Amino acid sequence: MVYSFQESKRLISRAVRVIPQGIYGHLTPVITVPGSYPYYVSRAKGSRFWDVDGNEFIDYMCAYGPMILGYGHKKVDEAFARQARKGACTTLASPLSVELAEKMVDIVDCADWVIFAKNGADTTSIALVIARGYTGREKIVLAHEGYHGTQPWAGTNSVGITPADRDAILMVPWGDSAAFTRVLESNRGQVAAAMFTPYHHPVFSDQNLPGPDFWPEMRRICDREGIILILDDVRAGWRLDLAGSGHYFGIKPDLACFSKAMANGYAISALVGTEKMRIVASKVYATGSFWFNSPEMASALACIDELITIDAPAIVRERGEALMEGLQEQASSHGLSVTLSGPPSIPFMTFANEKNFMRSQLFCAQCALRGVFFHPHHNWFLSTAHTEKDIHKTLNVTDTAFKIVKEHFGY
Ligand SMILES: Cc1ncc(COP(=O)(O)O)c(C=O)c1O
Repeated sequence: MVYSFQESKRLISRAVRVIPQGIYGHLTPVITVPGSYPYYVSRAKGSRFWDVDGNEFIDYMCAYGPMILGYGHKKVDEAFARQARKGACTTLASPLSVELAEKMVDIVDCADWVIFAKNGADTTSIALVIARGYTGREKIVLAHEGYHGTQPWAGTNSVGITPADRDAILMVPWGDSAAFTRVLESNRGQVAAAMFTPYHHPVFSDQNLPGPDFWPEMRRICDREGIILILDDVRAGWRLDLAGSGHYFGIKPDLACFSKAMANGYAISALVGTEKMRIVASKVYATGSFWFNSPEMASALACIDELITIDAPAIVRERGEALMEGLQEQASSHGLSVTLSGPPSIPFMTFANEKNFMRSQLFCAQCALRGVFFHPHHNWFLSTAHTEKDIHKTLNVTDTAFKIVKEHFGY
């Protein structure tokens, strides 16, 4: 018996009349496999969610990263609710902002100070402003297919973007320090900052971990050229290392952006920086109506405590390794060749010699129809709520999905 999604379909047909695309952005059904996935959730708990048709899913997207301790985590949710009763959005800052900043300065390798915001994109944008303020230069180097949000400078959209929005942006392949050096040579004295993710996690592609020389080399080049090195750790932050992914890969950036896993699903982000950036950071006017909301800070404090107590990065790595190994073995047993890439806690799978992702779409659709939620084009996420039993159950489903791919495509 496979799932059906009648109520999801009913809701989306109402939604398209009142919401552009019905569901826009990263949750849009257009980028999964329309018809084989649910569109609307009714509740979520632990490693699972239930859609509006009552179907149950083991969720390997974890809300695209924020859910690191599992949905509905008691300590985090209670911390949020307790603080919300005391006042969520207030005229003065909460002492929790001091407590949380002190905690982050304690645990994050490159953090001497912290600016809180709501979304990852808030922090990547402020980081550029601070880097430009510090250097008095304009240009920014980014990686092709890197994602830093939907701001015009970030290059995600084509509609509504003018050439001027991207005039000061220079692009290089991720992980290519020689290309970076060449770009600097033709823009000498003009580059304020380089912003990269700690490893490369593009959509529609294998993930790419840095070689041992990449980050030390980038640090040397940036120091030599007076360029601010910004690490966008919004996606990977705290799934690899609670001191930050910079610490994990042996790089100390000047600025680093965190968000997704900070508060297990509550809306908070943080830009952290080193001592040398402090004065410029304090001169930049950065704010938003909800940036000092205290319940999110309470939930972040509870989340961090729990991540430390249980050594969350070790748990998600172990579960991810079991999933990756299981998928690799299963694919071979069906005569299929797949690549599992990225860190085990944030894995992704592609079929060999990929051209159009049709096999990934069929594979993921067949999993979704049987209660396992993977994305065909975007990396997956593990949480500490995923159990060995979940992985076992998942591998039962993927066995069927591999079989169907083999029967349908033959390779
Ligand atoms: C690496 C990276 N940077 C920035 C962002 C933007 O974060 P947000 O969607 O919270 O604005 C994301 C979101 O997926 C991301 O993965």
